[in-house]
Amino acid sequence: MQYGYFDEKAREYVITNPNTPAPWANYLGSPDYGAIITVNAGGYSFVKSGAAGRITRYIFNQFDEPGRYIYLRDEETGEFWSASWRPVRKPLEEYKTECRHGTSYTEFISEYKGIRSRALYYVPMGATHEVWRISLENLSGRPRKISVFGYVEFTCDSFYTQDLVNMQYTQFITRTDFKDSFILEHINEFCHVNPDGSNGSERFFGVAGAKVASYTGRRDAFLGRQRFDAPQAVLDGKCDNSLNYNGNPCGALQVSLDLFAGEKKTAAFLMGQKTESQAKEIIARYDDTEKTVNAELAELIAYWHGELENLKVKTPDARFDSMVNTWNAFQCFTTFVWSRAASLIYCGERNGYGYRDTVQDIQGIIHLDPELARKQLTFMLSAQVHHGAGLPLVKYSHNAGHEDTPEQESYVRETGHPHYRADDALWLFPTVYKYVAETGNTAYLDEEIPFADKDTGTVREHLKRAINFSMTHLGTHGMPAGLHADWNDCLRLGATGESVFVAFQLYYALRIMQEFCKNEPDYVKYLQDEAEKLLKIINENCFEDDRYIRGFTEDGQIIGSKKDNEASMWMNPQSWAVISGGATPEQADVILQTAYDKLNTPYGVELMTPAYRYEAFDGAAMILFNPGTKENGGIFCQIQGWAILAEALRGHGDRAFQYFAESSPASFNEDADRRVIEPYVHGQFIEGHDSPYAGRSHVHWLTGTASTVMVGCVEGILGLRPTIEGINICPAIPAEWDGFTMEKVFRGKQLKITVDNAAHKQGNPEKIVLNGEERPAGLIKDSELKDVNYITVVM
Ligand code: GLC
Repeated sequence: MQYGYFDEKAREYVITNPNTPAPWANYLGSPDYGAIITVNAGGYSFVKSGAAGRITRYIFNQFDEPGRYIYLRDEETGEFWSASWRPVRKPLEEYKTECRHGTSYTEFISEYKGIRSRALYYVPMGATHEVWRISLENLSGRPRKISVFGYVEFTCDSFYTQDLVNMQYTQFITRTDFKDSFILEHINEFCHVNPDGSNGSERFFGVAGAKVASYTGRRDAFLGRQRFDAPQAVLDGKCDNSLNYNGNPCGALQVSLDLFAGEKKTAAFLMGQKTESQAKEIIARYDDTEKTVNAELAELIAYWHGELENLKVKTPDARFDSMVNTWNAFQCFTTFVWSRAASLIYCGERNGYGYRDTVQDIQGIIHLDPELARKQLTFMLSAQVHHGAGLPLVKYSHNAGHEDTPEQESYVRETGHPHYRADDALWLFPTVYKYVAETGNTAYLDEEIPFADKDTGTVREHLKRAINFSMTHLGTHGMPAGLHADWNDCLRLGATGESVFVAFQLYYALRIMQEFCKNEPDYVKYLQDEAEKLLKIINENCFEDDRYIRGFTEDGQIIGSKKDNEASMWMNPQSWAVISGGATPEQADVILQTAYDKLNTPYGVELMTPAYRYEAFDGAAMILFNPGTKENGGIFCQIQGWAILAEALRGHGDRAFQYFAESSPASFNEDADRRVIEPYVHGQFIEGHDSPYAGRSHVHWLTGTASTVMVGCVEGILGLRPTIEGINICPAIPAEWDGFTMEKVFRGKQLKITVDNAAHKQGNPEKIVLNGEERPAGLIKDSELKDVNYITVVM
């Protein structure tokens, strides 16, 4: 079933049937003030941490409640509904509605009994409060008396677990006040009081643009013995002006918006963690509600659409375009900014950045905003320990040069991470390369950055030490040891066991470094020798005519041999053999074919197969999961990006695009019940063939999938491959496409690219025409580019 569509022009996903199979969500604000909002107006808000800074309550894994509710009540008939379909749920035949999820805002436009409502939710740029603008328009041709009730359920305590389960404490620390236009919640009111009388944990819920007709700060008074579909206050037509003292607080405000025929009126509910005087000041800013809101919305849209401007594609596949131009890109920014902080399935327990996750996330935005990417990249380099490894968890409070490391008990106590991972710092190589190639800023390699614990060095020095870390942690055959995990969190290969995936990552790193260290011939020689040696070891020990194995355990057992009954075929060693340049063309084609034959499903490639059931080795933690799920033979979505890229690098456009299409959220727009989660964002995994629910996806929004699939599409399918000298444009597209166009900003210059596929090829273009001059396909040097360039790529 289909629930909505992509409005490509507005860069919105429009949900026209709100009865979606899961709460389809959007992200507002930033982790400084973050808000998740769903099609049901469900979700929660927090300051800095979803776990420790929670200001509104949300019950996970239940009915997508509570939320940011706006009830509308016809005062003549007593009938009421909500600005979003839920919570009241009027029959959809009479209640016309759409939920427009945009880039950092969500708007519900509904019409019921002649009243059109527009409820717009957003966090203004750089602000730490949220806005719910409600506009009503009377289309009924007669005067109407409409009451609007705004409702939010505050937590009693910023620690959400405390709020939910330690009620002998949290129910007795809060009270609410009413101050003309807002409810103010106090927590631990008489503790840590500042000179201005506040203690910094106050939250407010206020209204601008209309006078408060009634209020309550008590959830029980608002709801009575009802639930959210018919709260007592809304049934009664007024709140009882009571305040909370112990028990559950809330913010509930009634305003009257009486409308002549054809008249429109606007008010705005405002909310945040603010003191009384800050709340007053914020509310005053919205006196001229429409004006302020319109200006703030325009600013938000300009910012976000600006961020997405650097690459625009128009291909024969509208869904591919929607994903690359808007939704995958917006998701990349969301993972970049939010990391794994908060969603509807986790909410900030991690309290820091995972090393590999963040370095991968950066890759997803380099083609759009390389300078923003650089800042985070520098931060991550500063989280490398002096010996080259990445800190497994980089605290939000990271203080480069002064951090403890997993060698120290204090770090372990604080983060729970006693071990290094084999892959963490190796992600730096492709990420630094992509940044330098996108911008041409080779001077970055000479930038001095501190290490996490002690010492400082240039970016190049940081990378050398990362190589050194791998070279001093080799296993029995001389390949990188698997340590506590490689990319796969469930694969514990230990201090002497080895990971073929990481071996290819290291091989790739050794190659990239040769380009970065051109002026150091001795070091380049070392890199070349080590790369050659490593490849030889890999080929001698890990290649089984149609596949690479996955690795070795500490006791020498092979993982991923074709002789095995379980887990005999793994995707990542195959895709990375190609991406790293380690596989010969012949090997590449064979292993990619085996991968396709053994791992492909209608919903993407499985991470490995057959899933573990009876023969898992001790370090195979994925056995915990049901077969066909997550790392145990699930369709891990992140690896689709590498599969797309590997096929594209071989010029296999049909296959690359097939992998994209099979697992792309947008492909399920019409079959959304199968996928369940949003058809506009990637999830972490899709259930594989072992599951009775194959095709169902999970763990929405904050996942490494966003960046790998983005890279697969941009570098792979679209073939935009910057190098240090310039850019290669080498599309790998379905043979049936006649061609496509794209516009890209590259090092400040406009590239207006037309790909001509009259030849109906899949890859390996023949020639290019650069500003009227024809030549064989290949590198376009930076120095050849004008401010605006017309480029035709002939396939
Ligand atoms: C999760 C983790 C990521 C890991 C992946 C595979 O997505 O966040 O770090 O690489 O699982 O195990």
